[in-house]
Amino acid sequence: MKLLLAGCTGFIGKELIKELKEKGHSIVLLARDPEKYKDLENEKLILKQWDGKSLGDWVSEIENVDGIVNLTGEPIAGKRWTNRQKKVLLSSRLDSTNALIQAINKAKKKPKVLINASAVGYYGNVENDLVNEGYKKGSGFLADICEEWENAAKPAQKENVRVVFLRTGIVLEKGGGALEKITPPFMMFAGGPLGSGKQWFPWIHRDDVIGIILYALENESVSGIINTVAPECVTMKDFCNELGKVIKRPSWAPVPGIALKVLLGEMADMLLGGQHAIPEKLTKSGYDFKYKKVGAALKNIYE
Ligand SMILES: NC(=O)c1ccc[n+]([C@@H]2O[C@H](COP(=O)([O-])OP(=O)(O)OC[C@H]3O[C@@H](n4cnc5c(N)ncnc54)[C@H](OP(=O)(O)O)[C@@H]3O)[C@@H](O)[C@H]2O)c1
Repeated sequence: MKLLLAGCTGFIGKELIKELKEKGHSIVLLARDPEKYKDLENEKLILKQWDGKSLGDWVSEIENVDGIVNLTGEPIAGKRWTNRQKKVLLSSRLDSTNALIQAINKAKKKPKVLINASAVGYYGNVENDLVNEGYKKGSGFLADICEEWENAAKPAQKENVRVVFLRTGIVLEKGGGALEKITPPFMMFAGGPLGSGKQWFPWIHRDDVIGIILYALENESVSGIINTVAPECVTMKDFCNELGKVIKRPSWAPVPGIALKVLLGEMADMLLGGQHAIPEKLTKSGYDFKYKKVGAALKNIYE
């Protein structure tokens, strides 16, 4: 396959590139600063500059690709959610998706599939229910962003492009994502659950995110919303206990919700809430998860 990748130089995307290269796929990689990724270039990967919001000479590449993967977005937990930062979080996702949609509209030959990032934050904080792909939208900033983000990608469906919305959970691997923030206090013997610990922690190993993207690219039956989470969701408390066991540190110092709110502002809601998301569509369609249990995922990461 020949694929156009956007927002794929980060925590998830850089691993996706490795996997796609190994499988022999050809890649057009859009990046805001392609110079930084010159070492990735070869006969199977070409780099194109874009600004994540406007059309440019990259647009002609759309005619030549079978599929698009768009993971673009300012890091959600990078900075405090001031009004200004909230605008950046939203516009980086909407503008990039809109630019890709405009490029698809213009193309005479359309790609077959668009895989667009989203997040389980769409569902907001859900205490008891099992949350499958049909569950209602929640409230809050993240839920609103996810809705707008998905709506921005929807017009591709009218162009007969198969659109997959990856409602992704908390992605686990070293070198980025949630573990990079959660693990350091544990290493200093000061780790423990955030808030009550009773909130759901819808995790997924990064290898499975990559596996699911490949699966969605290759299987025409996969379309629409896909809960990209492991089959066995755990609570924050159980997650921290498993982490403590694997890295041989106690999980005994809970961080009170009120302290998190003072420290992080509105972003604390993301950590103090959660949802028992289940990957119903993936399970029904036969996707074989590499990591079903959080203990096995953490052992793979740290041992
Ligand atoms: N990691 C998780 O746990 C998780 C969970 C749920 C959903 N997601 C979503 O999945 C996507 C990929 O996640 P990730 O962890 O790989 O993210 P990441 O490491 O932050 O990478 C995101 C990519 O987006 C581009 N980008 C960043 N800020 C931008 C901005 N202001 N304007 C335009 N482009 C910008 C960057 O590409 P260039 O600098 O090369 O242009 C970067 O490589 C994100 O949209 C994220 O919200 C992630």
